[in-house]
Amino acid sequence: MDDADVTIGPVNLAARVDEALAVQALAFGLSEDEIVVRRHIVLRHLLNPGACAYGATTADGRLVGFVYGMPNDRSHWWSGVVEPYLRAAHTVEWLDDSFVITELHVHPAHQGRGLGRGLITTITDRAEQPRSILSAIDTESPARALYRALGYTDLARMVHFPSAPRPYAVMGAPLPLRRKPAARPSTGPPARN
Ligand SMILES: CC(C)(COP(=O)(O)OP(=O)(O)OC[C@H]1O[C@@H](n2cnc3c(N)ncnc32)[C@H](O)[C@@H]1OP(=O)(O)O)[C@@H](O)C(=O)NCCC(=O)NCCS
Repeated sequence: MDDADVTIGPVNLAARVDEALAVQALAFGLSEDEIVVRRHIVLRHLLNPGACAYGATTADGRLVGFVYGMPNDRSHWWSGVVEPYLRAAHTVEWLDDSFVITELHVHPAHQGRGLGRGLITTITDRAEQPRSILSAIDTESPARALYRALGYTDLARMVHFPSAPRPYAVMGAPLPLRRKPAARPSTGPPARN
């Protein structure tokens, strides 16, 4: 599939929540019951001050990836869960002046073509905070590799969210996120004299 016609831009995620969750279900794995629960959570999240979303959209209007996030607020549920882990790891100051990436998902048929990187750098470039935090399942995954490539480092590991079967790592990065190094021009054969 050619991704040349996929564009990244702001998206009204509340209006397109079902499309977004269909992408998340394929990318991350969500049961029908989890989709119903996530739908309420996403719509509630989007009401938070500063919450914003970007989508990757095909030329014919299909959503094939999305990211959303918001300025962290210590009164938010996510922040409250991770706070004791960050406190124990002496990284708790990351909860202040930080933009949280809440979800990032790319449709499996469109992965590996720069959309994940494009989505997260686009949303964090418009953030007013000097740093970004997020949580990811604490295993070596494409997501963890992407976050490390962007400059995120581990702030706490083995973080347990109620009802999540697997532990998470909390990661943080200074903004703007690290860019992919430009490919070095190939050096042709040595000149003959
Ligand atoms: C994580 C995810 C969003 C990345 O999106 P993507 O569009 O496939 O990623 P990109 O093509 O932009 O890749 C950017 C970087 O991520 C890393 N990466 C991506 N896929 C990878 C893979 N399969 N293995 C290792 N590293 C990978 C690489 O560092 C890559 O940089 P490179 O192209 O210079 O090698 C996507 O894999 C996804 O939706 N996964 C399932 C859902 C998920 O885990 N979401 C995150 C929840 S925390």
